[in-house]
Parts: sequence; C-alpha cells; structure tokens
Amino acid sequence: MTNLDLYAKAEHLLGIEEATEALYDLYRSELDEYQVKTLLDVGCGRGGFMERMISDGIGCKGVDLSRLMIEECQAKGLDAECIDAGDVTGKYDAIVSIFDVLNFMDEQTLVAFLNSMADKLNDGGILIADINTLYGFSDVAEGTMSKDRGDEFLTVDAVFQNDKLDTQFTLFEKQEDGKYVKHQDSIVQYFHKIKTFQKIEKLKLVEKQAFSLYDTEDKTLLIFKKK
Ligand SMILES: C[S@@+](CC[C@H](N)C(=O)[O-])C[C@H]1O[C@@H](n2cnc3c(N)ncnc32)[C@H](O)[C@@H]1O
Repeated sequence: MTNLDLYAKAEHLLGIEEATEALYDLYRSELDEYQVKTLLDVGCGRGGFMERMISDGIGCKGVDLSRLMIEECQAKGLDAECIDAGDVTGKYDAIVSIFDVLNFMDEQTLVAFLNSMADKLNDGGILIADINTLYGFSDVAEGTMSKDRGDEFLTVDAVFQNDKLDTQFTLFEKQEDGKYVKHQDSIVQYFHKIKTFQKIEKLKLVEKQAFSLYDTEDKTLLIFKKK
C-alpha cells in the first residue's frame, strides 16, 4: 500500500468532513465568476467536488495518485483515473486542486506541475488551488491526534520543521478473524512561499486570498489564469 492509499484509508477518521464542505463552497463560489463548462480536478480524492459540479451540469474529469481514491470515484460512476496529471489528454476551462494538494509537491515538482497544467487549459482558462500558510502548518497542522472506532484505531503525529510537515499515520484495522493489521507510513507536505507562484512561466497569479478553514488565516486560495 502506498502512503497516499494509507491516507485514503484513514481520511474518514480525521474529522475533516465539515472543512471539506466549506472548501467546496468556496471553490464553487469562485468558479461561478467564470464561464466553466469543463473541469479537471487534480487530487480529486473520493470525487466529492466533481459530484457537486456534475449536478450543476459541468463536465468533470478527476485524477489522483491514490488507486483507492480512484476506485471509489469509479464506483460512483465518475470519470476518474489514477494517472499523473501531466498525462491527462484534452483541455479544460478550469482546473482545481482542492485541500492541500499543492503542498504534497516539493517546489521543483510544483513548478513543473503548474506549467504542465497551463497546457491543459483552454484560452482564458483558470486554475484554482489552496495551500497552507506558515501559520496553518506550524500552529494548526502540527501535533498529534488519535481516533478509536473499535474496529479501526488511528494515530497521526505531525512535525513541522525546515518548511516541511512530516505526518506519520498509524492505522490498526480489525480483520475478520478478530486480529488487527497495522499499516504505517508518512506523508510530507511542503510550505510554499507566494513568490514561487508569482514566477510561473505559463500561469499568472491573479488572486491570492488568505482565509480561515480551521483557524485564523491558516490557508491561502490561489487563482491563476493561463498566460
Ligand atoms: C487532502 S486530500 C484532498 C482530496 C480532495 N481534493 C478533496 O478535497 O476531498 C489530497 C489528495 O491529493 C492526492 N494527491 C497528492 N499528491 C498528488 C499528485 N501529485 N497528483 C494527484 N493527486 C495527488 C492524494 O492522494 C489525496 O487524495
């Protein structure tokens, strides 16, 4: 199992449903400002945002590097693939990367990713993403939590150091025979400065909006236009 598949297995124990819905509301209202008929969701997870957009008549495609996430999308009948976003064919009016997806990339990967996404936008197309602020990493995300559901037990231990959040996930899952299986892996998230986004060759940063998801200004919403 990959670290992203472990995240997929653990996500429902993290208590982020309300925050996810609030983020979807924010993206939806930003997208309303533009003429969007087709949308690519990179890091689409279980496809919740695509479901919302499809119900509003928008054509959606999702990609995610977690096979488990994509299997759930496909089971819901969504057009989703477990492929690198750079391998997506076709062009879209809008691309979104919702809930920290850009923080999963180091700076070099991020810059290459953003330029390659510009090539997948129609003229006048937009890309919207959110990132954690320094405060969001150091004061909100850092720390420990645990959740005991009887048949599942999760601990999360996150340390923020040198602009990186290293989060260790440990999940015990009860099997049919009553024994527990242990899964353990870590995910690194990278803090990115706004100036990184102002230097993207093929995208122009047209808006940056600090907002509060869990705490005061723990996130920034970024809106880019294809140059
Ligand atoms: C915090 S989850 C958010 C999922 C979804 N956007 C949502 O709002 O529910 C981050 C997602 O990004 C995916 N991911 C991380 N790095 C990725 C990458 N380079 N390309 C595509 N997906 C990625 C993970 O597998 C995970 O599903």
